[in-house]
Amino acid sequence: MNEQSEHIISRKKEHLELCKTDEVKFKEKTSGFEQYDFLHAALTEVKIDKIDLSKKFFGKRVSYPFIISCMTGGTTEGENINLQLAEAAAELNVPLGLGSLRFALETNIFDEHFKVIRKTAKDAPILGNIGGAQIIQMKSFKPLFHLLDKVEADVLVVHLNPLQELLQKNGEPNFHGITKSLEKLVKQSPLPILVKEVGSGISKKNAQLLLGLGVAGIDVAGAGGTSWAGVEILRNKQSTENPFWDWGLPTSYSIKSIAELRKKHKFILIGSGGINSSFDAAKALALGADFTASARIILQTLINSQQAGVVSLIKEWFEDVKKIMFLTDSQNLCSFGLEKLILKKDFS
Ligand SMILES: Cc1cc2nc3c(=O)[nH]c(=O)nc-3n(C[C@H](O)[C@H](O)[C@H](O)COP(=O)(O)O)c2cc1C
Repeated sequence: MNEQSEHIISRKKEHLELCKTDEVKFKEKTSGFEQYDFLHAALTEVKIDKIDLSKKFFGKRVSYPFIISCMTGGTTEGENINLQLAEAAAELNVPLGLGSLRFALETNIFDEHFKVIRKTAKDAPILGNIGGAQIIQMKSFKPLFHLLDKVEADVLVVHLNPLQELLQKNGEPNFHGITKSLEKLVKQSPLPILVKEVGSGISKKNAQLLLGLGVAGIDVAGAGGTSWAGVEILRNKQSTENPFWDWGLPTSYSIKSIAELRKKHKFILIGSGGINSSFDAAKALALGADFTASARIILQTLINSQQAGVVSLIKEWFEDVKKIMFLTDSQNLCSFGLEKLILKKDFS
């Protein structure tokens, strides 16, 4: 194993350790969901037992509009986590996001692991993952496509993390050429491409550009949940007063503004970044997300109460979502939109 591989492994280990704690939350900035309440419908006509939350995700029908967000790819530390998450994804029948495959691209020691993940996840869609900073450097995408084949991935996610790269020791804050690389990747990829942030959100303008390139989905991964600036600042043992800790567009803002692009483009919109409760998930959906996704709370639940805990958590969240739909007179997800929300400031 070369020095760079060792470096990636120990970095992933530190990321996982820090994300087990709440030290890496945003400080002042929130996801913005707390500004909203649901518009109560005393005259609801909804048959709650007839609400169907299942949804198509790139050709496969899944049981909930929820994705286990990308966390670990191929590293020894991540193997067990991915396996448990795959079991949870199979039981829930929801998509499973893998973390960056950067390290796995350099070795074939995870080939067997990926086969097991695919088998364990059963029919659940699997999202492969690679960094934008990495695709710029790739001379050919073939090794990446070959690896995605081994995982039998359904979608390829490209994560954009300029803030994290900027603050990371030995980070690679060079995204020059990212648009061209993404365009090339979209053209050559046998799988649909989904682009995500990691906690700083995506602007409507950038989303428009991405959709123009042919990207099939956008995961806003907005501000208000895990601060990746915070993670890197803690890893660097720097002052926690760093003003970049809270950088980014709040998740609710990103979802609401990007959802407006539906008039012009067909795409899947994922609302993530600080989705830590059933009400957060419901508000993300009502603001215009097709799916919601969570990362750190899933990791923490897995560590505290194994995959059974993750399964219970998500089932409970979506039982609540059904109750919220009942109370807002929304028989299905299509009728559960912006008009079902009210800004709390309008109460006064
Ligand atoms: C332990 C951990 C590892 C992560 N690794 C990746 C990764 O490899 N690729 C990626 O796209 N996002 C990664 N993320 C970011 C998440 O997918 C997510 O976008 C971000 O943490 C915001 O969601 P949250 O507030 O629910 O944690 C990771 C998150 C966690 C908690």
